[in-house]
Amino acid sequence: MFDLTRQWAKVGKDVMAAISEFLPKQQLVLGEAVATFEAALAERLGIKHVVSVSNGTDALLIALTALDIGPGDEVVVPAFTFFSTASVVARLGARPVFADIKSETFNLNPDALRRALSPRTKAVIVVHLFGQPAELDDILAIADSKKIPVIEDCAQAQGARWHEKEVGTFGKCGCFSFYPTKNLGALGEGGAICTEDESFAKRLRRIRAQGSEVRYVHEELGGNFRLSSIQCAALSAKLPHLDSWLELRRRNAQFYNENLEGVGDIILPSVVNNAMHSWNQYSIRTIRRDSLREFLKENGVGTDVYYPRPVCLQPAFEELGYLPGDFPSADRVSHEVLSLPIFPELELAELEYVAGMIRDFFS
Ligand SMILES: Cc1ncc(COP(=O)(O)O)c(C=O)c1O
Repeated sequence: MFDLTRQWAKVGKDVMAAISEFLPKQQLVLGEAVATFEAALAERLGIKHVVSVSNGTDALLIALTALDIGPGDEVVVPAFTFFSTASVVARLGARPVFADIKSETFNLNPDALRRALSPRTKAVIVVHLFGQPAELDDILAIADSKKIPVIEDCAQAQGARWHEKEVGTFGKCGCFSFYPTKNLGALGEGGAICTEDESFAKRLRRIRAQGSEVRYVHEELGGNFRLSSIQCAALSAKLPHLDSWLELRRRNAQFYNENLEGVGDIILPSVVNNAMHSWNQYSIRTIRRDSLREFLKENGVGTDVYYPRPVCLQPAFEELGYLPGDFPSADRVSHEVLSLPIFPELELAELEYVAGMIRDFFS
């Protein structure tokens, strides 16, 4: 499913050189390496401010904190996403209100969003799942009409574009993850928040550092959410490679599109108009998902299921009272979805092998 050693074989030299330059300075927390990476990512995104943080989950938590989300508030999130999109809402004492997705796109259904809004809605978290931009024109229009801020969860979508513009730059802010298997991966955990809004960026930085701007004066409750400077040095060395990795992900997706079309009952991932998908995952659907997965495993092909149950049905959200069937598209997709290997360094022979095995299964 992933082989990070292949990436390291290509970029390890650059990363080691950056770290060798970084280490003798011993500026291990914040400092030049962090500022340099934040500026480089901001330039790539075409946005004013990037605040690096400990990981993608904390990026979402900090963004919600900076919007003063708390008890009594509701935040709309898709019913089909990674757990942390919703858990951060509940951790702040607010209520995650789930809305169904479109099964064709795996992303928030704008009509479902409209129905989920209430006078208590204080924010919407829109997820660009698997690297496919959500339908931002409609979603932003709905949220803007009620003056509700939109947080973009771009954890899986580094490099994706909507109308030629990078995702993360449309809402109040965009939250990224640099988990090693993401499109831009750190040497461990990492994340970032981007925003155009200067005073919001200032608040994000304050929350990142124990709610403090002046040493030992704590204006509010924050945390220790800094991204290690050594990670920033490594990420700066990796960032110039991102476009070539995205290109290879696109090539791999194209290969599967051409070679799995019409095979069995497979539904290929569709790309919505105006979107440039960044293919963090290539996720097909089939009602024979579990037996296909088993067959591929027996034949040496790693796959994964993102996600085997809608997030609203997780035990941690039991008290919210959601039931199977509440979100039919999220339910259906959770039984049918299967993600295939798509990492950039896959070789053509491997892609052919995966596609061949899938064809064998259905014949
Ligand atoms: C959609 C989504 N949101 C948030 C996160 C959280 O990111 P992290 O693992 O860096 O905390 C992830 C991580 O996989 C994710 O896929």
